Amino acid sequence: MRVLVVGGGGREHAIVRALAESRHAPELFCAPGNGGTAEIAMNVPVDLEDPGNVLEVVNRIGGVDLVVVGPEAPLVSGLANLLAASGVPCFGPKASAAELEGSKWFAKRLMLEHGIPTAPAEMFENREDAGAYLAEHGAPIVVKADGLAAGKGVTVARDLETAMHAIEECFSGAFGDAGEVVVLEDLLEGQECSLLAFTDGTTVVPMVPAQDHKRVRDNDEGPNTGGMGAYSPVPTVDDATLAEMTSILERTVAALREQGIVYQGVLYGGFMLTDDGPKVLEFNVRFGDPEAQVVLPRLKTDLLDVMLAVASGTLADVPIEWRDEAALTVVLASGGYPGSYEKGKPISGIDAAQTVPGVTVYHAGTKRGDNGTIYTDGGRVLDVTAVAPTLAEARERAYEAVAKISFEGMQYRTDIGARALAEA
Ligand code: AMP
Ligand code: GLY
Repeated sequence: MRVLVVGGGGREHAIVRALAESRHAPELFCAPGNGGTAEIAMNVPVDLEDPGNVLEVVNRIGGVDLVVVGPEAPLVSGLANLLAASGVPCFGPKASAAELEGSKWFAKRLMLEHGIPTAPAEMFENREDAGAYLAEHGAPIVVKADGLAAGKGVTVARDLETAMHAIEECFSGAFGDAGEVVVLEDLLEGQECSLLAFTDGTTVVPMVPAQDHKRVRDNDEGPNTGGMGAYSPVPTVDDATLAEMTSILERTVAALREQGIVYQGVLYGGFMLTDDGPKVLEFNVRFGDPEAQVVLPRLKTDLLDVMLAVASGTLADVPIEWRDEAALTVVLASGGYPGSYEKGKPISGIDAAQTVPGVTVYHAGTKRGDNGTIYTDGGRVLDVTAVAPTLAEARERAYEAVAKISFEGMQYRTDIGARALAEA
């Protein structure tokens, strides 16, 4: 069997690693891949902005049995549609379903129409109307660019000035087309939790919950990032909360189906655990990064079997099992991230880090040099991930491994999982 994984971050390395363990022993390709995927898959250059180019890659490598799409942008641009039209099975939703992430207002309207718990919100197409609503509503308020903005389109505004500035930013084109529509939403308070599910459009199977750490510095200080670390399970989430989050994901898939939209892939629910129960902050239409790096190592079932079942609409036939162990990942980032940073710094200590029991180092922004040296090649560089019987041990092992790795400018958070352990 031949499988092409589209993307080149830590998430995609984790997917490729899990697929490499499949009983089907697939031949693996990764486009564009990174220094880590190069070790177990054939990396193929690709223009991720052009779905047609991905199809060309499929044809160039002589056809594949499955394409797994890691990031959201190609899904929102219709890569799954293009593959389906060419008879290539795809793990990842079609454009109409990917609107759940591609348009925050599409997702909000669907939730409001179907009674799915979320913050009340309104949408605006110009700054005057948005400003008038803001003056009436007051702060705090959350300002969201409607479209994809690489994680930068949301501002949690505690005062009117910050909110007005965020609205101006959207309408002044800072996020391109993504900011032409702005969603203003009530602020929700509580702890955040991600619950991802596999779905073939009918059957919805939740994964194990995970928690991300979005801010760049310890104690949730500094700007938002793609995610600086994660862990799973989440000890503060009880069974009733988990059941409610699962029900929300099921109702969302059913609501889409009523509109004739069959969702096939991963549905990622970003929840705020409020005093009133879990409420949806956002949906993503793919694995989280770095959530995938702590969820996939806990999957006992063959990932390729699951993905093929999702793509063929037979997920009900595949029982999905999880390991009891905990997993925790620490992201090592380039100095300056999430602002500007330099690339091309040699990295040392990856092999030494992986001698710590239970530790896997997933590559994110890395590149393999001709001499075999691994160089930094992005903002988030490595995800040092440990699996252990308990979360406390996973945390200890991950940081023991982190201490063995170095590159110029390396920065990371020292408190991944700390609050959860303190509260548990
Ligand atoms: P997103 O870019 O949609 O993933 O949102 C980024 C982050 O903004 C979320 O992870 C939350 O921390 C925060 N956020 C989004 N919506 C709200 C809300 N209604 N209340 C409080 N925080 C929010
Ligand atoms: N870690 C957050 C995301 O993948 O969107």
